Amino acid sequence: MEGNRRLERKVAIITGAASGIGAATAHRFAKEGAYLILTDVNEEALKKVKDQITGAGGRVVTKRIDVGKEDEVKDLVDLTLNEYSKVDILVNNAGVMGDLAGIDAQDGDVWHHVYDVNVLGAVYGTKYVAGIMQKQKSGAIVNISSVAGIRSGAGGNAYSASKAAVINFTQTSACDLGEYNIRVNCVCPGLIETGMTQMVFDYAREKGKEKKLGSRCELRRYGRPEEIAGVILFLSSDDASYMTGQALAVDGGNTASLNLPGMKF
Ligand SMILES: NC(=O)c1ccc[n+]([C@@H]2O[C@H](COP(=O)([O-])OP(=O)(O)OC[C@H]3O[C@@H](n4cnc5c(N)ncnc54)[C@H](O)[C@@H]3O)[C@@H](O)[C@H]2O)c1
Repeated sequence: MEGNRRLERKVAIITGAASGIGAATAHRFAKEGAYLILTDVNEEALKKVKDQITGAGGRVVTKRIDVGKEDEVKDLVDLTLNEYSKVDILVNNAGVMGDLAGIDAQDGDVWHHVYDVNVLGAVYGTKYVAGIMQKQKSGAIVNISSVAGIRSGAGGNAYSASKAAVINFTQTSACDLGEYNIRVNCVCPGLIETGMTQMVFDYAREKGKEKKLGSRCELRRYGRPEEIAGVILFLSSDDASYMTGQALAVDGGNTASLNLPGMKF
């Protein structure tokens, strides 16, 4: 496998690895020499990712879990220890969108589900790797938030609030774990073509408006999953050894601007 081997023999857990950003991160980490534990609720798609990576010479173990269920997350971390005897990296990537309902139609069940996956998934993962990383006196955790956690307008109410919570949890857990040389950072992607956003892309293409997607970003385009994977790699690697508690927007400059209507030509 090609790559710069920046994660040689590092053990990395990636959640939501069957699709989109998680799958791209799994492929990139494998190229960089990492040993992987990949998980998702979508077993069939997860197996495809595993087959592709093992076919290219990578080392992968997969297990279906729902990250919103604490006992399943604990089982996954136990499995990682049994397989590899350590955990160097955790990427809390699994996420769901929820709905786009108006304020008068907010649904508690949707909020609970979005929070279970997007927030508690990261909390449980961090909880169960923390003890191991504390003993190792090293570790890197990367949470996937969103530009929706920074500004309104990139998702529904529950989604945006959950992603803001992920940024804050990144800070509080970084403070709890810093003295053990465990770094916790987060990435806030802008619009990326993945399973989660496929409907938006399909609709825009159908209407001949694909170019409009991402046109309000400073780079005038939407992003690719590989462009997020590269930043997750950076934060997971020793190149970011003095970084913790940070949220990096990877959004083509979208959150750098107020994007006032009519100001872009
Ligand atoms: N695509 C974007 O534009 C975008 C922008 C900002 C942030 N994000 C975030 O990036 C992360 C990855 O999403 P993506 O865009 O690659 O979407 P995706 O739908 O392609 O991938 C998400 C994966 O998470 C899995 N998943 C969902 N619920 C799960 C659960 N309970 N337990 C385990 N796995 C579960 C899904 O099966 C899927 O494979 C998410 O946290 C998402 O919120 C995406």
